[in-house]
Amino acid sequence: MKVLVTGGAGYIGSHTCVALLEAGYDVCVIDNLDNSSYEAVKRVEELTGKKITFYEKDILDKPAMEEIFAAEKPDAVIHFAALKAVGESVAKPLEYYHCNVFGTIALLETMKKFGVKKLVYSSSATVYSSVKEMPVNEQSFAYVTTNPYGWTKIMCEQIIRDTCHADPELAVALLRYFNPVGAHPSGRIGEDPAGIPNNLMPFVAQVASGKRERLSVFGNDYPTRDGTGVRDYIHVCDLADGHVLALGKITDGNGVYTYNLGSGQGTSVLEMVKAFEEASGREIPYVISPRRPGDIAEVYADASLAEKELGFKTKRDVYDMCKDLWNWQAQNPNGYQK
Ligand code: NAD
Ligand code: WQD
Repeated sequence: MKVLVTGGAGYIGSHTCVALLEAGYDVCVIDNLDNSSYEAVKRVEELTGKKITFYEKDILDKPAMEEIFAAEKPDAVIHFAALKAVGESVAKPLEYYHCNVFGTIALLETMKKFGVKKLVYSSSATVYSSVKEMPVNEQSFAYVTTNPYGWTKIMCEQIIRDTCHADPELAVALLRYFNPVGAHPSGRIGEDPAGIPNNLMPFVAQVASGKRERLSVFGNDYPTRDGTGVRDYIHVCDLADGHVLALGKITDGNGVYTYNLGSGQGTSVLEMVKAFEEASGREIPYVISPRRPGDIAEVYADASLAEKELGFKTKRDVYDMCKDLWNWQAQNPNGYQK
């Protein structure tokens, strides 16, 4: 079975390509390398001993997409390609709506034209930003978020649900990821943020390697056990395995399946810092700074539906995430740039 992966050179995409190849799928990737490097694809091939057909193309380029679908005849698509920085999306909303929403529509149109009926879509826990009751389950979805990036995820989910409603042969898994962290245990592939990392753990890793002086902890006055923000961190390899399980589910069914992919555990910023210090043996200097605008106190998943219907259960804990993140960071202090 052949899977076309959009955004497959990126952080979650590259780890998912490893999981797919190891599970016996054939894989082709479309990525414009806007936020990634071809080196990641080469390393996935190296790790698995298998080939990936790679297209450096934009998903908004319809003629190119049609050529690729005609040549590859994929059985299913996993759609990662998107812009994903929350803060940047506030400054550049049109770029985010253009890439994420038009890109998803272009993909759905191409799938329709070529009769491809299976899709796994990268959604996000950001769709739960307004929910107060924890843990959040798939029904907690409230069609409200705090930023354009989040809106693109809500909109794309709705566009996909409507498309499925109109074509009962379509089978889609909407996967709502919580906070992916870590890297492949080999240290060969991992997250390679451009510039100053927006997310907590890539920033922590750069403090450990000496690239940044200290971490700013954004607020210690939240109503949580130590006052810092609580999130549901999930090892990127567990997340990748979740895609293989979701693909299995839609291969046999049709309609829309929506799953939280998280660990079900909330961990605070200071607990993550401590876990990283233990896993790396490095001290992480930090200062307490004001809250980051738009942040919420806590969000963690009710992950029971994915466990019940997909047999999905995380195998790696926060210590494993930190150990693998540090292994990647220490081996690749400049990411994929040699
Ligand atoms: P990433 O930036 O590492 O990967 C996205 C990939 O898509 C990159 O390789 C980029 O070059 C490519 N891309 C972007 N626009 C494209 C376009 N128009 N055409 C072709 N390729 C394009 O990000 P990631 O962390 O791997 O995220 C993957 C998906 O998961 C995204 O849809 C993101 O919104 C979603 N997600 C990520 C997180 C997270 O914290 N990392 C959490 C929830 C959801
Ligand atoms: C985690 C915690 C911060 C950086 C984001 C997106 C979400 C999803 C995942 C894509 C919070 C604190 C952070 C720092 C800090 N992405 N923090 N100092 O905000 O939960 O989720 O990534 O879909 O949509 O919003 O993740 O890693 O930025 O923050 O104290 O330098 O770490 O306040 O409590 P977040 P994060």
